[in-house]
Amino acid sequence: MRYESQRIAWWFFATSMLLLCLQIVYGFIMGFAHMGYDVLHDVIPFHVARATHTNLLVVWLLCGFMGSAYYIVPEEVGRELYSVRLAKWQLGTLVFVGVVALVGFHFQWWEGRKFLEIPRPLDWLVVVNVLAFLWNLTMTMWKSPRMTTTSCVLYFGLLMAALLYLPGMIPTDNQTVDSYWRWWVVHLWVEGVWELIMGGILAYLLIKLTGVDREVIEKWLYVIVGLTFLSGILGTGHHYYYIGAPRYWLMIGGIFSALEPLAFLGMAIYAIAMARRGGRSHPNRNALAWTIGCSIMSFVGAGFLGFAHTLPQVNLYTHGTLVTAMHGHMAFWGAYAMLVFAIIAYALPQLTGRKLYDTPLAAFAFWTSNIGMVAMTLAFAVAGVAQVYLERRMGLDFLAVQEEIEVHFLGLVLAAALFAVGIGAYVLQFWRYGLPVGEVERAAVTGDAEGPAPDAAAAEAGA
Ligand code: HEM
Ligand code: HEM
Ligand SMILES: [Fe+2]
Repeated sequence: MRYESQRIAWWFFATSMLLLCLQIVYGFIMGFAHMGYDVLHDVIPFHVARATHTNLLVVWLLCGFMGSAYYIVPEEVGRELYSVRLAKWQLGTLVFVGVVALVGFHFQWWEGRKFLEIPRPLDWLVVVNVLAFLWNLTMTMWKSPRMTTTSCVLYFGLLMAALLYLPGMIPTDNQTVDSYWRWWVVHLWVEGVWELIMGGILAYLLIKLTGVDREVIEKWLYVIVGLTFLSGILGTGHHYYYIGAPRYWLMIGGIFSALEPLAFLGMAIYAIAMARRGGRSHPNRNALAWTIGCSIMSFVGAGFLGFAHTLPQVNLYTHGTLVTAMHGHMAFWGAYAMLVFAIIAYALPQLTGRKLYDTPLAAFAFWTSNIGMVAMTLAFAVAGVAQVYLERRMGLDFLAVQEEIEVHFLGLVLAAALFAVGIGAYVLQFWRYGLPVGEVERAAVTGDAEGPAPDAAAAEAGA
């Protein structure tokens, strides 16, 4: 840790972990409901649990991204954060809005639009909050002595994510138009600008953990950004197939979304190649495992399993089934959850001054959560394929099919239990690291390992 203000990131990370635990609780509520044990139905009906589960996911990931930005940007641009007070205020208000929204869901105060359930007045508060966050980053970068590609890509991703929240607020009473705009947020986030955030954070981690020259890592970052935009923007069409939008989307969506896995494949090859190339072996192998793991699992979940249902001929049958949930879990886990886990695994030793990365608990958390998530994905896949055949091919009633596939949710809950144990281990590890009391100077002997990173040396020489 080079700057005092980077400490604020810890509070975002801690909030993020807390919300993740809550998300998992709601996951279990739904898992049991799917098994036929919908015992909480009167208090937390399925749709409430679902909205809470997915919104918690989005909020804990955003908290993780914000923490990452507050951690990475000062170090990249070479100065303290513009305002730590603003960052604290921003976290406090974000949590406040989140809590109000979640409680509201339980009292049926919601919009009923998947992933964008937060009621309109709260949307505006989110906008103000994110503006404060961006202002803090903008001023930090504006007043800084240098810019790096990594920080610019990360910043651009966060800025575009904020702007793309707005189309989701366009009022309409037409279902098709509403869907059309909703995908501008949901799709263009996860298959567009969040990929830039991912690229930026991965680049930062690779620079720190592999010791490969910044120029090399950043050069390939451009290629990945290019691939992402080339495929992801028009790839939005894979959500416009049979919703009342013009037919040409079948062709456009099919072709461009089929290219999307290339960006994720690129990211995986990039991370693996840099790790192999790096001669310097950084002591924090656990952070490297999460980094490389993220690049690989995102290809599996987003690229491979996304491709599995992206062609219109397939999506006609799989749309809105548990096949979607199969892909949704692995994609979010691989690309974004593991990304947040990677940056936390890297940052904690620096923030707290403790080196707990080489412990059995750290390795256990990595493997157990990943094996658990692979098993969960398989359970969703089996349930989803069975659902597609029974409901869409044989024409059975939706609820009759849900009863038929209850048995597969026993598998899901068992896999989820394994996953939850892994997450529990990670959170325990987080707890063991303790508060962010690490000395700024002490950073030299912890994370950045044996001597300053080559990029830092170069920047300092050039400054
Ligand atoms: C990290 C990146 C990705 C994440 C986090 C992600 C996540 C999700 C989620 C949560 C949904 C359900 C959304 C909803 O119904 O509101 C979804 C739908 C979908 N995703 Fe992805 N996805 C990613 C990348 C991809 C890629 C690269 C492809 C194609 C190659 C793809 C293909 C699809 C398709 C076709 C649907 C629509 C499913 C349906 O019709 O029900 N996804 N994705
Ligand atoms: C103990 C762990 C978990 C369990 C038991 C669980 C279970 C579930 C269930 C049953 C659903 C509803 C499927 C339906 O609509 O019928 C769901 C939705 C979802 N969950 Fe989880 N979940 C867990 C953890 C996670 C994690 C860690 C993530 C992200 C990394 C995640 C992401 C999602 C997403 C994106 C959806 C919406 C999928 C869609 O659009 O179809 N879940 N989850
Ligand atoms: Fe999409």
